[in-house]
Amino acid sequence: MKHWCNTLHLHCLDSSEADKTFSSSISPKFLRSTLRYFLQHSAVFPHHFRSSLFAPASPRTAPSFTCTLLDDTTSRDTNAPEITDETPSDPEHSVQQVSRLRSEHLNAFFDADESMYQVRLANVFSLALQNFVVELSELQTGFRRLVGLDSPLRYTPPDCLNFILDDATVANRERERENRDGKVETGWFVRKVYDVTCAGLDLLFDGRPIPRFWMLETVARMPYFAYSSCLHLLSTLGWYRSPTLMNMHHAEELNEAYHLAVMESLGGDKQWRDRFLAFHASLVYYWFLVILFLFSPAESYRFSQILEAHAADSYCEFIDANRDLLRSLPAPEVSHEYYSEFMYYFYEFQLSDEKQPPPERRPEIFSLLDVFENILLDEREHTRTMSACTDFIENGNKFHYNGKAVSGSSRRPNVIPSQKREQFWRKWAGVHNKRDRG
Ligand SMILES: [Fe+2]
Ligand SMILES: [Fe+2]
Repeated sequence: MKHWCNTLHLHCLDSSEADKTFSSSISPKFLRSTLRYFLQHSAVFPHHFRSSLFAPASPRTAPSFTCTLLDDTTSRDTNAPEITDETPSDPEHSVQQVSRLRSEHLNAFFDADESMYQVRLANVFSLALQNFVVELSELQTGFRRLVGLDSPLRYTPPDCLNFILDDATVANRERERENRDGKVETGWFVRKVYDVTCAGLDLLFDGRPIPRFWMLETVARMPYFAYSSCLHLLSTLGWYRSPTLMNMHHAEELNEAYHLAVMESLGGDKQWRDRFLAFHASLVYYWFLVILFLFSPAESYRFSQILEAHAADSYCEFIDANRDLLRSLPAPEVSHEYYSEFMYYFYEFQLSDEKQPPPERRPEIFSLLDVFENILLDEREHTRTMSACTDFIENGNKFHYNGKAVSGSSRRPNVIPSQKREQFWRKWAGVHNKRDRG
C-alpha cells in the first residue's frame, strides 16, 4: 500500500515572504489575514489532512496543483481559491508544500485500519459514546462557523477545488435519457419518494457537488444492504435461496463503498451537518427498502434502478462540466487501490453475455477524471443489474453476469413433496436391491 501522497502545494504565507513583508510594511490587513489563516487551519485538524489523500499518480497526467488562498474579506464567489498549475510570483501567495503526509494521518474509509483516528472495535455503547464526544466537538465547530464566529472552511477540499454542478442541467439530462430509453414504470408511491429525494438533494447541496456525491454514495449502499438482509431472511426461513443475487449485491455494496471512500478523500464528509443528515437518512432509507422489498422485490429493485440512473446522470454532467479541472488533479490513493490493484469483487456485479465473462474493464487511473469516469461506468452497470433483477423477478427472464447464468430454477418449489420423496427412495432401493441380488 502506498504511504506517501502526491505533492500538494497550498498557497499561503511562507515564512521568508512574511519576514520580507513584515520588514517593509506591516499592514493591519496582512496581520488579520495571517492570523485568520493559522486559526482556521488549527481548527480543522484532522480534516485538513484529508487533502493529502491524493496518491502518487502518473507523472504524464498528474501535475501538481495549487490552491490559491486569497483574502477573506471579499465575497466567496469572487474569492474562491483557484486551481492553477503555475506558481504565482505574487509575494503574498508563496508556496508551502504539505507533501508526503503519511497515510496513517488519513481517515478515509479504506485507510481506516492504518489511521490513527480509527478507534478500537468495542461494544456498540462504547463506540456510540466515543463517536458522540468527537461529533459534539465538531457540532460546536460547525455552529461557530454558521454564526460567523469562525471562518468557513474554504481552503480545504472540496471547497478549494471549485467544482461546479448545475441541478437544472442534470434534470434536463435525465429527461433526455427517459425520452430516449423510456421511463422506468414505477408505482406512484416510489416515484413520489424519488422526486422528494431528488428535490431534497438539490435544495441541500446546491453548489456543493462533492458533498452531494458523498451523500449519494452513503445512501447508495443501503439498497444492497437491504436486499442482502431480506435475502438472508428468506434463506433462513427456507422460502427462497439465491447465492447469486446475494453475491451480486455484496459486490455492488463494496463498489459503492469505494465510491464513498473517494468522496471522503475529496472532503465530501467535511461538515458535521452533512454527516448527521447522511447517516440518519441512510437508516430511514434502509428500513424503507427492507419493507418495500418484503412487499414487492421488483418495485424495490425499480426504485434502486431510477436512483442509480440519477446518479449516473449526475456524474455524467459533473464530468462534462469539470473535465479540464478533473484532468489536472491527481487521483485519491484509494481509487488506485481499487481500480488499479486488487479490484476486489469488481466483476461480480457486471452483466455479461451468455456464459461469457464480461469484457475486461481494468481501468487505468492517471487523474481524477479517470476516477470519475470509472465511477460513472459503475453506476451504469448498477442500473443495468437492477433492471435485470426486476425482469428476472417479474418475467422470469434469465440474465448472465460474470459468466454465470441466473435462471428461473428457483421458481420450482424448494421442498420436495413427501409422496415424491417416498417414490424416489422406493425406486432407488428397488434398483439397488435387484442389482445386489443379481
Ligand atoms: Fe456509487
Ligand atoms: Fe450505484
